[in-house]
Amino acid sequence: MSTPLDRLRELQAADLPVHGGRTLAYVYDSGLADVDRVGREAVAAYAGSNGLDPTAFPSLLQMENDLVGFYAGLVDAPDTVVGSVTSGGTESCLLAVQGARDSRPDVERPRMVVPSTVHAAFLKAAHYFGVEAVVVPVGPDFRADPAAMLAAVDADPDRTVLVVVSAPSYAHGVVDPVAEIAPAAAARGIRCHVDACIGGWVLPYAARLGREVRPWTFAVDGVTSISADLHKYGYTPKGTSLLLHRTPEHRKPQYFAYADWPGYTMLNSTMQSTKSGGPLAGAWAVVQSIGDTGYELLSREVFEAVDAIVAGVTDIAGLSVLVPPDSTLVTLVTDASCDPFTVCDEMGARGWYVQPQMSYAGHPATIHLSVSAATLGGVADFLTALRASVAAAVAAGPVAVDPDVAAFIESLDPVALSDADFDGLLVAAGLIGGDDLALPDRMAEVNAMLDLASPRMREALLVAFLDRLQRPNR
Ligand SMILES: Cc1ncc(COP(=O)(O)O)c(C=O)c1O
Repeated sequence: MSTPLDRLRELQAADLPVHGGRTLAYVYDSGLADVDRVGREAVAAYAGSNGLDPTAFPSLLQMENDLVGFYAGLVDAPDTVVGSVTSGGTESCLLAVQGARDSRPDVERPRMVVPSTVHAAFLKAAHYFGVEAVVVPVGPDFRADPAAMLAAVDADPDRTVLVVVSAPSYAHGVVDPVAEIAPAAAARGIRCHVDACIGGWVLPYAARLGREVRPWTFAVDGVTSISADLHKYGYTPKGTSLLLHRTPEHRKPQYFAYADWPGYTMLNSTMQSTKSGGPLAGAWAVVQSIGDTGYELLSREVFEAVDAIVAGVTDIAGLSVLVPPDSTLVTLVTDASCDPFTVCDEMGARGWYVQPQMSYAGHPATIHLSVSAATLGGVADFLTALRASVAAAVAAGPVAVDPDVAAFIESLDPVALSDADFDGLLVAAGLIGGDDLALPDRMAEVNAMLDLASPRMREALLVAFLDRLQRPNR
């Protein structure tokens, strides 16, 4: 009879591989099997520990302070810096917004100014915390436009509690001009958060390796907080990110304390209360194992892989790099001979996961690559697969969506649609076939159709789809 662990392994076989460097989104692979083992064992050892109370579990407090201290040394942090370990990038971003909002209790209807490329986590924060997000289009280089950002601030400076920039942005992999925005925000008494969730653990080493990196750390006047995920390029197990503040004063609104009930006084520095010590211990053990010289080496490897991919793509007709990458994310764009969605499917068929990104505000649909250190050994194979995938996509021609279907989708108002309408649409879109909810192997047709829908319609359709996926097995 199979054990639960046997069954777990069988279930996991359906998932994307987390090791091997062939999954170029969602996971980040150092390629260091021993380090991964140490991380897993640390997670297991602390799975039952509770990060709710650092006086009851002082080892967790020590590990958190060690991690913040290590990272502070990478981002030119002043002696006053403080920080917390959170559950992931989204929680760090949420807390940056919540803290900014609550630092200004005098502001009745707070707003924040963000570039259009800011991670969706900030729009989630706006939604959760009732902060208006003023979204400013980026410039032609896909970077935040300082003049436009500051004009948006100056349209209502008294209500503006936060300005956000990215280092780098997820979709295009470029670093915003932090030095042109943060000091100007500071001059107006407004916080500036740098979202380095995905770049925070490689950009410091990129600079050390002599690569050109625009300033983005606490060395830039006016940067008040930085988020940097351990579970991305810290190569730690999932479930950890860092949120650093320039001073304890900046962090203070992040604390939640409640004593006015009959139980223990609740005191939290992050959104969770009871939380497993596992991810923190796993992160600590991995950072201790890799160490500063290890991260430098991993960064050397990942940038070597990025450079080889960028150079290799120039030789593939029909494909190009959208914008030279500032970090470890590469954004590819196809010409009219093929479409990016088919290329993604073809790559999948060849054992490589690359991520489709829909068109947005006049920017074309693209292919996202989060390159890992472990990808370096497979770059030649990757480029061979990419060349073959583009050739197959050119041979198939761009996915054509029936013009009538396209016109219908464009005319739909998601707010006015009923559940039955959504069911019909999910069937039409190929997202549901009869009772079978599994995604089709090839997603190009579905993606091409979704690409035509408005962002609101896309959201509504995918929510309807997820809602139908998340039903109990009985
Ligand atoms: C720039 C940036 N910010 C925030 C996040 C959100 O991180 P998470 O998925 O860990 O919540 C991501 C994730 O890719 C990111 O790239």
